[in-house]
Amino acid sequence: MNLPKSVEMIEVCPRDGFQNVHEPITHDAKVAVIRQLAKAGFKRMEIVSFVSPKAIPQMADAREVVEDTQQALRDNGVESVALVPNQRGVETAVELGINEITYVISVSEKHNMANVRRTPAESMEQFKALIEEYGHKIRFRLALATALGCPFGEVIRTERVAEMARFGFDLGCKEVMLADTVGMANPVRVTNLMEPLIREFGADRLIMHLHDTRGLALANTLAAMQLGLYKFESAAGGLGGCPFAPGAAGNVASEDVLNMLTEMGVETGISGDELHKAVMLIKENIPAPIVSHMAHLYKQTTCA
Ligand code: COA
Ligand code: ZN
Repeated sequence: MNLPKSVEMIEVCPRDGFQNVHEPITHDAKVAVIRQLAKAGFKRMEIVSFVSPKAIPQMADAREVVEDTQQALRDNGVESVALVPNQRGVETAVELGINEITYVISVSEKHNMANVRRTPAESMEQFKALIEEYGHKIRFRLALATALGCPFGEVIRTERVAEMARFGFDLGCKEVMLADTVGMANPVRVTNLMEPLIREFGADRLIMHLHDTRGLALANTLAAMQLGLYKFESAAGGLGGCPFAPGAAGNVASEDVLNMLTEMGVETGISGDELHKAVMLIKENIPAPIVSHMAHLYKQTTCA
């Protein structure tokens, strides 16, 4: 099989996972999970979003979460990533010394309106202004939500995704992330979208973010790897989902991705034992169901 020698796994449970938990998560639980995930060997972790607390109440303590986890991330060599939708979020990220900003724009007009109350064109204008003003202070990456399917039925054209990615690279982004926000992709769709993007931009500049709504995220991961892609986001415990996308369910679980990659001989640098401990912490302290395959096996073992 055509597989990469190694894969970069980027952990997003503390942002994508926690944002979709309806019951409040205690501050201490968030901090404990992030500190444990930091020990697992991830080089980058999306730990919070700086967004309107009315839009995402779970992120109301994002500033404090960063303050209380920054040392653990530094000690373990983990770069911090924060999702932001506007200037206020960028300023908070810069002030707190976040390493990288995820700025999200949906390819779908309707989803962008639901998510950030702007048209994609307005978001693109704002992104340009933010990079021009803050690009020398902090690294930006562009995340294209709904790149593999729109929950409101809009047709997503590959050429439009390419155009938006090109826009991000032209502004100086080193990477663009392609998100299957509601898990509508399949291996054929992944191939049809990603082949031309890889040809134009190179696999080293593209990150995949796959949700497992229909159980296809691991198949999609494998299809993407066979195309040469090697940067994947995932969430411990399989938590996740966008509250503004009907039908959104969890991200592909980090422990399931890790298991698949390890079994296939692909290096990740992630410690299965430390990730296991993080999943157990999530299970005990986060009021949301764990939906990964590996977590079922964990039940039969003791968490050292
Ligand atoms: N950090 C903290 N608070 C923020 C904020 C930020 N980055 N941006 C806005 N706010 C606050 C404002 O101060 C305002 O508070 P107030 O009503 O107490 O004065 C409130 O949020 C609304 O702000 P406004 O600028 O009017 O924005 P809006 O209501 O048009 O919403 C967004 C636009 C983009 C701020 C909002 O839709 C949002 O945060 N979306 C994020 C969605 C998301 O995270 N989705 C999942 C990830 S893809
Ligand atoms: Zn997501």
